[in-house]
Amino acid sequence: MNEITEKLNKLKKEKNAVILAHIYQLPEIQDVADFVGDSLDLSRKAAQTKADIIVFCGVHFMAETAAILSPQKKVLIPDVNAGCPMADMITASALKELKSKYKNPVVVAYVNTSAAVKAESDICCTSSNALNVVKSVESGDIIFVPDRNLGSYVQKNSGKEMFIWNGFCPTHNNLMLPEHILKAKAEHPNAEILVHPECRPEVAALADHAMSTGVMCRYVPTSSKKEFIIGTETGILYKLQKENPDKKFYPVSSLAVCPNMKKITLAKVLDVLFNETNIVTVPEEIRKKAYLPIERMLKIQSA
Ligand code: 13P
Ligand code: SF4
Repeated sequence: MNEITEKLNKLKKEKNAVILAHIYQLPEIQDVADFVGDSLDLSRKAAQTKADIIVFCGVHFMAETAAILSPQKKVLIPDVNAGCPMADMITASALKELKSKYKNPVVVAYVNTSAAVKAESDICCTSSNALNVVKSVESGDIIFVPDRNLGSYVQKNSGKEMFIWNGFCPTHNNLMLPEHILKAKAEHPNAEILVHPECRPEVAALADHAMSTGVMCRYVPTSSKKEFIIGTETGILYKLQKENPDKKFYPVSSLAVCPNMKKITLAKVLDVLFNETNIVTVPEEIRKKAYLPIERMLKIQSA
């Protein structure tokens, strides 16, 4: 065990702290984390943990979701600049204006949104339960924000008409293209192709399955296939390989990296836990409003 890991383990005990990490985090962060998961599982863990401090190794909206669910806990983010460009593609005021154009708007907000946008929403979803969340909406005009690719995937598979905001993830939308899939397929003809629904519809159409990161991790051990082409941020390959040593994994593109996820380093994790800095807070009025759509989301299972 290296010195930083030893120090971290000691501090975690002393301060009753946990480290939660998203599947896209660097290998060394995944190794020190108490739990590594997708955004839905991380939200659940953040709500359930008895820890006093959560060090959230992920992007800002994920840490903010933990702070909304557990205002009595101290949520620390190792780098305050680890944002999500997709989440920044919609603001609360733009959403308010859009809602005013509908008689009975029902806003389904991808969890990749700010607390202020969540506060204007009816129910949140992650990529793992988006389909079931949209299916659960019984009436009204569904507005889906902000990811156009996840939105069109859900619209196609639920058969529900929705207004879909024109946001996207730069990593999934711009760095994984049909030609990358075709090349990977030619190189590994026996591999099963799994992609994240944040990828473009043309990319999803070439895959065997579109699924969230957490669902991918649960699916791979159950598949009879021995090789997989993975269409999501490359950080997931570390977890997949660790948990399935007898299987082989190839990225759709080795360039598919989320620079914000990679801002978190072991040294920053140690620093925030030691100094208890970078506390993520949400104004109480917004927190209370944003809590409801997240709470509704947590009641809905993955697809
Ligand atoms: P998951 O919901 O699969 O964890 O994905 C979150 C995310 O930011 C994908 O880019
Ligand atoms: Fe946001 Fe895309 Fe990074 Fe996920 S991979 S955190 S959607 S920028």
